[in-house]
Amino acid sequence: MKRRVESGRTLLVDGPASVEVVSGKAEAFGFMLSSAEKIVVREGKRLPFAVEKTATFNILLGENASIEEVEENTIPPSWRKAWEELLSYRTKPVTAMILGAVDSGKTSFCTYLINELLHAKQKVAVLDGDMGQSDIGPPCTIAYAFAKKPVTDLFDLKAENAYFVGVTSPSKTVDKVIEGLASLGKEVLSDRPDFVVVNTDGWVEGEEAVSYKVKLVEHLNPNIVFCIQQREELAPILNALENFRKMIVDSPSAIRHRSREKRKSLRELGYVKYLRNAKVRSLPLNWLQIEENELIGMGAKRGSAENTRKIYELLGMKPLRFTELRDRVCVVIGKNRWIDTENIRKVEKFTKKNVVIIRKGEEQGLLVSLHDAERHFLGIGVLREIDYMRNAMKVYTPVSEEVSVVAIGRVKIDKDLREITPFADEDEQNFTTFKS
Ligand SMILES: Nc1ncnc2c1ncn2[C@@H]1O[C@H](COP(=O)(O)OP(=O)(O)O)[C@@H](O)[C@H]1O
Ligand SMILES: [Mg+2]
Repeated sequence: MKRRVESGRTLLVDGPASVEVVSGKAEAFGFMLSSAEKIVVREGKRLPFAVEKTATFNILLGENASIEEVEENTIPPSWRKAWEELLSYRTKPVTAMILGAVDSGKTSFCTYLINELLHAKQKVAVLDGDMGQSDIGPPCTIAYAFAKKPVTDLFDLKAENAYFVGVTSPSKTVDKVIEGLASLGKEVLSDRPDFVVVNTDGWVEGEEAVSYKVKLVEHLNPNIVFCIQQREELAPILNALENFRKMIVDSPSAIRHRSREKRKSLRELGYVKYLRNAKVRSLPLNWLQIEENELIGMGAKRGSAENTRKIYELLGMKPLRFTELRDRVCVVIGKNRWIDTENIRKVEKFTKKNVVIIRKGEEQGLLVSLHDAERHFLGIGVLREIDYMRNAMKVYTPVSEEVSVVAIGRVKIDKDLREITPFADEDEQNFTTFKS
């Protein structure tokens, strides 16, 4: 369909849609539209096309997509002040960190900053710390990219490297996220960018979130922290960040809030993108180092043979696998097997450790990341099966390189690449793992 929009007005397009400007002049988050270039608006995303010179658009709307015209530019004036402020820094590199709640406009603000910095001929890197709504790497990872030309969607940038967190919310893995961001942050700087724009996850409210965000800022030590506020939700973080330069920017009123379902389906677009051309690979367990063993009952430390025999005796059965870890004992049994709770208690008493019973089949669908011998990230995969008899792991993945390390995540993906872990979402702090 064709649509004419007068100069000064903004066309809001809710995806899935594709938009093309036929005549006139329009921009989206600082990206100048040119004729004969189709802009894709993904499902769950909204793009504001601010019209500078009366424009005619050619629009294709997908299922449930919609458009709406508003009177003004929906980019808050404080966003412009923010990049002007950034450009005034004389010493490079300049690191800018963005804080804000879920759906406050963090990604859009980053996109806008990046585009404006590129117009000013700067070398710009984006470090994406939002594992729940990743723009750069696969879902459940943090990642970075260099922006070579302006974009309307950071999803179109190519990730240089990623760090697998394995969950969609940082609340249970605060240290891991900090470590990941800090190490990728160092790597980014070694490539000598003029600006590093660091996006973060939307967990900002409550004591734990505040102390986590403060730690994150301290580790990355940015030159400036941009706080996107809707109300006063960042006040506790702002107060705690005494020694950092901060600037409050507005959350646009034209924001489109996404339901938990929408955020999940946006992540699923990420699984599709990063699992394209995947095949099932069989990886021999003997050659692999596995991280997060307790989820699947793997691990090197298996106790002495005599010890093991005694434990089997106490269990009253021979499990598929038995692993004694530092703080717990993992027992893997067949789908339909059953162990007397009394026997489990006996083993706990004998080993002085908690016994975790894992049923074969529970591992199916777990999101994993694959790494080479130097632990460089190679890509993600979905665990299809652990064959305890053959001592191999079947993983659905596009990675074809040699794999040395596999990290097991807590999110589950089904064969249609739908996320099936219940309640694993950014604003869900007490998410349930597949075991409970
Ligand atoms: N200025 C704006 N005008 C119109 N829509 C916007 C604007 N800023 C953000 N949006 C839309 O609102 C939604 C949420 O913004 P986003 O930047 O993804 O938030 P966050 O990264 O904080 O979750 C997105 O679909 C985005 O395109
Ligand atoms: Mg975002």
